[in-house]
Amino acid sequence: MITSCEQYHEESSYDRHRMSGHFLDWASQPAVFKAYQGIEPLEMPRDVALPKRPFSSLLKEKAGKGGSIGDIKGLSRILLLTNTLTARARHPDEHFYYRSAASAGALYPTEIYVVIQGVTGLDDGLHHFAIHRHGLHPLRQGDFTTPILGMMQAREGRIPQVTFFLTAIFFRSAWKYRTRAYRYHLLDTGHVLEDLMLALKGEGLPAALSYDFDDRAVNRFLGVDEKREGALALVHVFDPSPSRGGEGGKTTELPEAIRRASVVSAREVEYPAIRQMHEAASQIVKGLLPETRMVHELGLEVESWTKIRDLPAWPEKLEYPDALFQRRSKRNFVDKAITGDQMSAFIETVCAGEGRDATPKYDSSLAIGLLVGSVDGIEQGFYVLDHTCREIGVIAKGSFEGKMAQVCLDQMWLANAGAHFLFLTNLDMLSSTWGPRGYRYAMLTAGRLGQRLYVAATAMGLGCCGIGAFYDGEARELLGLNEGSRLLYLVAVGPVKKL
Ligand SMILES: Cc1cc2nc3c(=O)[nH]c(=O)nc-3n(C[C@H](O)[C@H](O)[C@H](O)COP(=O)(O)O)c2cc1C
Repeated sequence: MITSCEQYHEESSYDRHRMSGHFLDWASQPAVFKAYQGIEPLEMPRDVALPKRPFSSLLKEKAGKGGSIGDIKGLSRILLLTNTLTARARHPDEHFYYRSAASAGALYPTEIYVVIQGVTGLDDGLHHFAIHRHGLHPLRQGDFTTPILGMMQAREGRIPQVTFFLTAIFFRSAWKYRTRAYRYHLLDTGHVLEDLMLALKGEGLPAALSYDFDDRAVNRFLGVDEKREGALALVHVFDPSPSRGGEGGKTTELPEAIRRASVVSAREVEYPAIRQMHEAASQIVKGLLPETRMVHELGLEVESWTKIRDLPAWPEKLEYPDALFQRRSKRNFVDKAITGDQMSAFIETVCAGEGRDATPKYDSSLAIGLLVGSVDGIEQGFYVLDHTCREIGVIAKGSFEGKMAQVCLDQMWLANAGAHFLFLTNLDMLSSTWGPRGYRYAMLTAGRLGQRLYVAATAMGLGCCGIGAFYDGEARELLGLNEGSRLLYLVAVGPVKKL
């Protein structure tokens, strides 16, 4: 029985000497688009003006202070920028679609729901985002301000005009990754979430992110089958006029037919470790912020710290949102260095505070490391970033990337990447501060930063690929992490042969 993140992480670890062969059962391949029997999605307009601008300016901009989502076009634009189909591949029987947010194995476990109030052209109520139709499945009608306030941990005395809910459908990733899939539910959802946060920021809207809510109440409200699908993140856009709202809110159980939409395959297999970990993490511990930063909890000795320089202008080739829409995973890294400016831009990407420091506790659940392979002006080696102090610290000089490629299930093309960003945590510290829910904070934050790196790389004409597959014990040994610390996610960046 899994009751802690240490246990789940161990149970889902890869070990070179204990990898059992796993054949994909193509007959049980999960559906990637959620469908509700008898409910047609209302398609939203796609001809919406998109906010063309440098990605760097969006990233560095302060979060919006006021405003609301005025009409259906506004919501359409936000959802288009949050996740949309961007590329098509021909498969034997049908087309397969890739999306703007990366996903382990292109299995796309994340679903988006939205509760709206006063958006012209749309009924108030709960809707599910049907990505393939760029539409909304209406699930509940009415004013749900009161139940939403009840689900929120920090009420802040404000009323949300719109609340986005991100869930994961467990079997979608578990079909391929089995027990390890919960990692991908969280990382993948972090990728989508970052796109949503950036889209809201681009609209100048004040958004509040929460990983802390009453799981059961939210899942019931969304009408998902809790055994198969679970909410992972909520994002509120607060109403500028606090007097409005507050009424309404009968949340009767949604019909069984709606809950059945969480079934994505006729032959689903349940992996108990996933359910158990998700359940364990349903408790919220009102932990204080840890006194030390995560980067100091990894058991690493920093030889020296250097201030990270500001980069006034990034070397960008593509604007946002083109960079977002053209984002793909690239593995054809070439033996060419990342320039000093490109590296500074990447470091700014993961350190940029806005949108992260609004939730310092989530931020403090994670540390960031860097393996430099080929970067102009920076010696090869293992470094850590202190994003709060904007400093970079040397752990060890030397060549690590080839060894890390072996650690990553011998995905040897990783050895050619200019740099590997490492998302690290001390699981013991997560547990003692926030209990198992801390695992959600760290993994979702890692996913968010991974998505940022992808978009930044694409904007600069570079390649990027997220890596969730590695031998966990070997990664810890290679990096010299202490007993409680682990690599959670790796994102490789650098020049590639062809974008
Ligand atoms: C959490 C996560 C883990 C991933 N792990 C790997 C990996 O270990 N190896 C790999 O080649 N690609 C990996 N990817 C990239 C995905 O395979 C890729 O995002 C997916 O196939 C969709 O393709 P696209 O990113 O080009 O749109 C990962 C992506 C994510 C988000």
